[in-house]
Amino acid sequence: MTDATAERPDPATIPAEAELAEAGLRLEIDGAVATVTLNRPERRNAMTFATWRGLAAIGRALPSDVRVVVLRGEGPCFSAGIDLSMFSGGGEGFTDGRDAQATDAFIAELQQGYRWLRDPRIVSVAAVHGHAIGGGFQLALACDIRVVADDVKFCMKEPALGLVPDLTGTKPLVEAVGLSRALELCLTARTVLAEEASRLGLAETVVPRDGLGAAVDELVAALLAVNPGAAVATKRLLLEAPENTLEQQCAAERREQIGRLRAMFGGGGSS
Ligand code: CAA
Repeated sequence: MTDATAERPDPATIPAEAELAEAGLRLEIDGAVATVTLNRPERRNAMTFATWRGLAAIGRALPSDVRVVVLRGEGPCFSAGIDLSMFSGGGEGFTDGRDAQATDAFIAELQQGYRWLRDPRIVSVAAVHGHAIGGGFQLALACDIRVVADDVKFCMKEPALGLVPDLTGTKPLVEAVGLSRALELCLTARTVLAEEASRLGLAETVVPRDGLGAAVDELVAALLAVNPGAAVATKRLLLEAPENTLEQQCAAERREQIGRLRAMFGGGGSS
């Protein structure tokens, strides 16, 4: 999913509505916008292995004309994280007698449910209200942009349960808030409210709860107004920036701009 030049598979491979419903998900595609809804409100959108596999399947099958993906939660909150019933019975679903290598592959498969949200071909937007706990917080962190309601409650609960956050959340958390704050948030498992989330860089925008949908619609419209090729190239460029030296990033800027100039004017892109 990180190869931005690869063709997306045929849209026919999008999982059936019933299959997604079974996994606690709903998918709506309206032209260039896909909306993925966590849809188990009676369980506060708690997520199972099926949810994460369903998210990965959506990522694999997204039609190539989708440019923006919105993640949202149905009901009182975004997500209460992992479905705690999965820990009953000694948590055998997590290991199933597998060796470390097989468990590594198992977790990597679940992480695919989150990783595609960074694909340069899309911009992912988390619309977060109420609780976003553990795997729910990590799902919001996996998105490019977080628009949050003023009732948001972020909590990285995993260490309090004896686990580590392993659904891709540690890197964006550290990048957003810095190492010391990330440590403090994870190891106290305390709850971060809207004002602090905005101050720490965990939320790009905070809006009143009843204005969340409209704020997301407005953002999506602005994102779609940008040239599609420039959007993909710019996201690819920005994603590289934290790991690159200035020299490398300057070279990356030149490479992407040559691609843009060629796309716009043809030829070699030189004046
Ligand atoms: N798993 C399964 N069921 C859950 C759930 C969860 N994570 N969270 C809530 N539910 C269920 C409750 O059991 C309850 O079911 P009943 O109606 O049958 O009693 C229903 O959803 C409603 O829950 P509450 O009455 O508690 O709702 P609330 O609005 O008062 O509170 C809440 C919401 C603060 C999210 C609270 O439910 C809660 O703290 N849930 C647990 C959160 C949690 O610890 N999640 C694990 C995070 S760690 C993680 O996610 C690890 C990972 O990815 C690897």
